[in-house]
Amino acid sequence: MKTYLQRRIATFTATALLLTSAAPGQTPSPPAAPKMKAIVYHNYGSPEVLQLEEIEKPVPSDNQVLVKVRAVSINPYDWHFMEGIPYIARLLAFGPLKPTSPRLGVDFAGTVEAVGKSVTQFKPGDEVFGGKGGAWAEYLVISEKFLVMKPANISFEQAGVVQIAGLTALQGLRDKGKVQPGQKVLINGASGGVGTFAVQIGKHLGAHVTGVCSGRNAELVRSLGADQVVDYTKEDFTKTGQRYDVIIDNVGNRSLSECRSVLTPNGKYVLIGGGGVNDNRWTGPIGVVIKTLLWRPFISQEMKMMVADVNKDDLTFLADLMQSGKVTPVVDKTYPLSEIRDAIRYVETGRARGKVAVTLSEGGAIALEDGVAQKVEGSTIGPVPVALTLIAVPLFVLVGPILIALVLNRRFRRENPDKRPFRWGYYFSVMTFVSAVGIALLLDFGLTSVVISVVLYGLLAWAFTQRKHWAWIALTILSFNPIAWIINAIYLRKRWAEEPA
Ligand SMILES: NC(=O)c1ccc[n+]([C@@H]2O[C@H](COP(=O)([O-])OP(=O)(O)OC[C@H]3O[C@@H](n4cnc5c(N)ncnc54)[C@H](OP(=O)(O)O)[C@@H]3O)[C@@H](O)[C@H]2O)c1
Repeated sequence: MKTYLQRRIATFTATALLLTSAAPGQTPSPPAAPKMKAIVYHNYGSPEVLQLEEIEKPVPSDNQVLVKVRAVSINPYDWHFMEGIPYIARLLAFGPLKPTSPRLGVDFAGTVEAVGKSVTQFKPGDEVFGGKGGAWAEYLVISEKFLVMKPANISFEQAGVVQIAGLTALQGLRDKGKVQPGQKVLINGASGGVGTFAVQIGKHLGAHVTGVCSGRNAELVRSLGADQVVDYTKEDFTKTGQRYDVIIDNVGNRSLSECRSVLTPNGKYVLIGGGGVNDNRWTGPIGVVIKTLLWRPFISQEMKMMVADVNKDDLTFLADLMQSGKVTPVVDKTYPLSEIRDAIRYVETGRARGKVAVTLSEGGAIALEDGVAQKVEGSTIGPVPVALTLIAVPLFVLVGPILIALVLNRRFRRENPDKRPFRWGYYFSVMTFVSAVGIALLLDFGLTSVVISVVLYGLLAWAFTQRKHWAWIALTILSFNPIAWIINAIYLRKRWAEEPA
């Protein structure tokens, strides 16, 4: 039997439910999804494009872990996405006119808030670190396969800057450089995010480490264990007469031939990256990457590039090194989330000493502020002209010489009806010029490569006009032009039938 009070409560609850539920005939609206704050950007540009927005809080799936983020880091990777630089990457990865994904950030550290039902290695309250796209947010979900326990002796700020720089340094030295105990290793850019990890890991691997940095950072690099320091403001590491078994290049400011000159005969050069906000805004490191690939087959030294591979084994390896005190992340500055724009401005200057951390305080972030950090000015070309140029230039390079050749050929036939047409000879002459300029730019050989290329292509073009089929094939291939490859493949048999060799 219900008491009077129980009946009153039941009536009150039923009335309240009726009032808050939908009117008859309407479906009840689902409860609002929980929200969180995240840094987002909807347009490319300098740090002002960053906004703090409320978005849906993620829910972990069965094998995922929900992490409450305590600290994140700023990597050059982040400003590449934010600024949409290099422009060519907008077409290839970032999004042609606007960022495809509005979220930023990768490295993080935090505490486990909840786990999916298949998760076995983590429980709520665990302190963890790792990396996940869109990490600049109050919460993130991540597969337990990519998450690692934070060593107790490392702060959230330190653990939150490890993933990209730490993995890059480790894999660059161990996997690409194959560093052996006693080998001489040079780290160009030893005082930056990757460099400060590389010096410590290089020492752990038993190498003799030389760090290249400016004088103001020499003491820092020595304190991390470097056996020698080259102050690049006073000395050029390519002119010291020293030879190295492995070069880890975080700056990319020396030509490949200069780097080769200080490598041992079987030495390894590992290009990590380089370039600031205003360097090679159109193509970024693509030129250096192509040069490295072109050099590779012709020399005994190994020229390599790398992109860090995210895996739990290597993150655990780094965690163990930190636990044992062999590696300590160097955090130059720590900013609150509200000053993240300033934090990026600082990283964009290219002068950070070690890593830059951003912390998320309890209770979430407040509005974003602009502080006093030095602003790195960049040219401001709108996204539409950038996209049009990126489409028009390759199209012109591919189709332009063909059109010019067709016009020249038609004129030649009109003026010389009794002579045999020059056909694609005109095309290859135009391509001689285009290829010469392209190769000169790519190989950094300047005028020499223009001359070599003009002579080479010129000779082939002359042999071609003599109806030499091998010249036709060689020039077609060396045109580096897929459109010419297709056209010539289609007409090859027909032309050969017309003009037997
Ligand atoms: N391939 C990959 O997977 C991968 C991963 C991570 C990073 N990266 C790339 O690697 C590069 C380095 O990254 P990071 O995080 O180390 O950058 P960072 O932290 O911004 O590097 C800043 C450091 O570079 C030093 N530096 C600047 N000019 C120098 C020069 N001429 N010689 C020697 N040192 C110089 C600065 O020292 P001073 O102030 O003393 O000049 C500063 O300490 C970036 O381009 C980044 O995009 C690639």
